[in-house]
Amino acid sequence: MRMLITGGAGFIGANFVHQAVREHPDVRVTVLDALTYAGDRSSLAPVADAITFVEGSVADAALVDRLVGESDAVVHFAAESHNDNSLNDPSPFVETNLVGTYTLLEAVRKHGVRYHHISTDEVYGDLALDDPAKFTPETPYNPSSPYSSTKAGSDLLVRAWVRSFGVQATISNCSNNYGPYQHIEKFIPRQITNLIDGVRPKLYGAGLNVRDWIHVEDHNSAVWAILDRGRIGETYLIGADGETNNLQVVQTLLEVFGRDADDFDHVNDRPGHDMRYAIDASRLRDELGWSPGFTDFRTGLEATVDWYRGHEAWWRPAKAAVEAKYAQTGQ
Ligand code: NAD
Ligand code: TYD
Repeated sequence: MRMLITGGAGFIGANFVHQAVREHPDVRVTVLDALTYAGDRSSLAPVADAITFVEGSVADAALVDRLVGESDAVVHFAAESHNDNSLNDPSPFVETNLVGTYTLLEAVRKHGVRYHHISTDEVYGDLALDDPAKFTPETPYNPSSPYSSTKAGSDLLVRAWVRSFGVQATISNCSNNYGPYQHIEKFIPRQITNLIDGVRPKLYGAGLNVRDWIHVEDHNSAVWAILDRGRIGETYLIGADGETNNLQVVQTLLEVFGRDADDFDHVNDRPGHDMRYAIDASRLRDELGWSPGFTDFRTGLEATVDWYRGHEAWWRPAKAAVEAKYAQTGQ
């Protein structure tokens, strides 16, 4: 099986490539990644000899056509992925998330190649804190930001290509991931690296926003379950019942670092900040028999802290620039 993995030098994609090499030796992996600020080839160094790496954009139609033509399956992770960046400059989000997905869909249509589309629960908008509901595959799309709206648009393109052109595709919408190789602009690794540096964690607004945290290994094992046993045309929600508010995350990290529970700063809130995400993953659990391996968030966080402590050379070069950028918006 020849698998094209887009965005394989990013956070979730790199972990997926590692999992592929470790657990699916029958799969021949080609990574297509544009190596934007979020892509890092060194994340693939441990598996470099086992894969083929191609630097290029998913919006490059000629390149995509050639690589898809040489593949049996495509797993599409590549995206502009950070909400805060999308508020500062939406343009690469439209290009990569919408035009890039369109370009891949045209190629898989032409070559009759199986396609899996990686997406986010943020396409559904947000839930109120006092709402007992969770997102289900029937929840209407209601995205808030340029990031989530371009991901929503990309999902709808996939659905249309399935219905109108018979493309053999599945979609997954996952909640917030944490784990190794996550860019330090994101919430958890930003606070871990702040704490390593002796800097106080930064909480947007009151910090009561809830995210449904899942370890990246569990996201990726769910994607394998969908590739193996998922129904074509179906949407699967991926989540591991990890609802936690941002304040609780920061206080858990402070405890892990042996710091006082109030040793953090409130900073400017994000405009349009989604309040709560929560996933009902029963289709994935019941139909595909998937379950998460990381069921204790604190244990997963401690392992992630250890990873960042042990991989300072991986994240240090980006730290000053990330913090300088946040300083401009008072965050
Ligand atoms: P990331 O920002 O860490 O990595 C994105 C990767 O895509 C980078 O390697 C980057 O170089 C590459 N890329 C960007 N533009 C490209 C282009 N035009 N052509 C080729 N490569 C390009 O993102 P991530 O957190 O690993 O997210 C991966 C996917 O998972 C995204 O589709 C995202 O929407 C989705 N997702 C993420 C989360 C999360 O918590 N991080 C949750 C649910 C879904
Ligand atoms: P983030 O990792 O950007 O993911 P998303 O926007 O996709 O949920 O942010 C997770 C949550 O953490 C979100 O509610 C915003 C908040 N946040 C902070 O409180 N402080 C920070 O420094 C960052 C980056 C995010």
